[in-house]
Amino acid sequence: MRILTSLLKNTNPKIEYYSRFSPSPLSIKQFLDFGRDNACEKTSYMFLRKELPVRLANTMREVNLLPDNLLSQPSVRLVQKWYMQSFVELLDYENRKPEDSRALNDFLELLIEIRNRHNDVVPTMAQGVIEYKEKFGFDPFISSNIQYFLDRFYTNRISFRMLINQHTLLFGNDTNPAHPKHIGSIDPTCSVAEVVSDAYDTAKMLCEKYYLDAPALKIEEFNMKAPKKPIQAVYVPSHLFHMLFELFKNSMRATVELHENSKEGLPPVKAKVTLGKEDLSIKISDSGGGVPLRKIDRLFNYMYSTAPTPSLEPGAVPLAGFGYGLPISRLYARYFQGDLKLYSMEGVGTDAVIYLKALSSESFERLPVFNKSAWRHYKTSPEADDWSNPSREPRDATPPDANTKKSSELPHPVGSPPFLASL
Ligand SMILES: Nc1ncnc2c1ncn2[C@@H]1O[C@H](COP(=O)(O)OP(=O)(O)OP(=O)(O)O)[C@@H](O)[C@H]1O
Ligand SMILES: [Mg+2]
Repeated sequence: MRILTSLLKNTNPKIEYYSRFSPSPLSIKQFLDFGRDNACEKTSYMFLRKELPVRLANTMREVNLLPDNLLSQPSVRLVQKWYMQSFVELLDYENRKPEDSRALNDFLELLIEIRNRHNDVVPTMAQGVIEYKEKFGFDPFISSNIQYFLDRFYTNRISFRMLINQHTLLFGNDTNPAHPKHIGSIDPTCSVAEVVSDAYDTAKMLCEKYYLDAPALKIEEFNMKAPKKPIQAVYVPSHLFHMLFELFKNSMRATVELHENSKEGLPPVKAKVTLGKEDLSIKISDSGGGVPLRKIDRLFNYMYSTAPTPSLEPGAVPLAGFGYGLPISRLYARYFQGDLKLYSMEGVGTDAVIYLKALSSESFERLPVFNKSAWRHYKTSPEADDWSNPSREPRDATPPDANTKKSSELPHPVGSPPFLASL
């Protein structure tokens, strides 16, 4: 505890300094071009030794805005400690020249260490939210803050790992001999249908383990650009696999639970992959009975869904766990300017659609920036609902303006000068 406090004192000015820079979003095309043309380790080092502290500092400033009751939970403190340690370790490279080959090697090793240290950030934060909820109950204002925060925090983490993976895969020894054509973690000719069936197979194994049965898969493709050619994406296959695996698990569970005892057997899960001018879309459709509209938004809410995980043997993967499958998958889709949406018809089934950008030059990282409006988000109280609602709860009849602070009254979160471009 004392160590953390003294570390904080020395490091805070640095966090403040780096958080004034906006992160520099890269497109998949830029990642690819850099990795293809005789990728230069020194250039990557020079970029990352600045960009990684910038991304960490931006998110660390936001962590500090969380309500004290949440910040003081042991799991949240642990996550904060990991971030602090990684930030401090990266600062060692502020002045080490890229010509020093030891610096390059040490930096690469440090990145691997940081990646490992942050492996369990998501379940640990989820644990923090559970601890909070158990002690203080569910509060809609806090829930909306947590939602806003975790979406940004986890996106930041996805981006951080993307940068680390590109560097370590391009310049380290952990290149994957099974995928010689991959540029780091990017497959320039990723067969979407293949990833769909891999994700299906993996989910099917889990489903059969739990239910002794699993629905079949039907895949269909529609390539608007070249009707006879299989659809390929320039994308990170592991991200795509993650999203599809989560969707298949959900669809299979709903299907089996609804049709377990039906004479006709299980209706198949359908996947449709389409490529247009702008969008590459993948729809997973099931006949698992659907979800009522009222509950759809809730499925993406961290605080609603977070339930203590069922106790499992070590290494066992549950078919349904924290309730983070959908929200995290949507972050992966949005990270490169796509999206993930659910369309459900209660009584029938659900269509889940993953939208990706068809062009890698348009797939820029979508990154959270710590600035005044982000700051404001945590500190102002939410507006009362100005639409009638059928619940019988007492209405908040506070007159307009009695309760809301004008933005001009709010202190400036970061000192001037305004954000500098970091490249
Ligand atoms: N295709 C679907 N049909 C019916 N209900 C669904 C479907 N997909 C999701 N749901 C509902 O949404 C909830 C949240 O899904 P989500 O994948 O986020 O979490 P989970 O499956 O409960 O746990 P996990 O974190 O392991 O994925 C599910 O528990 C389920 O009730
Ligand atoms: Mg799930």
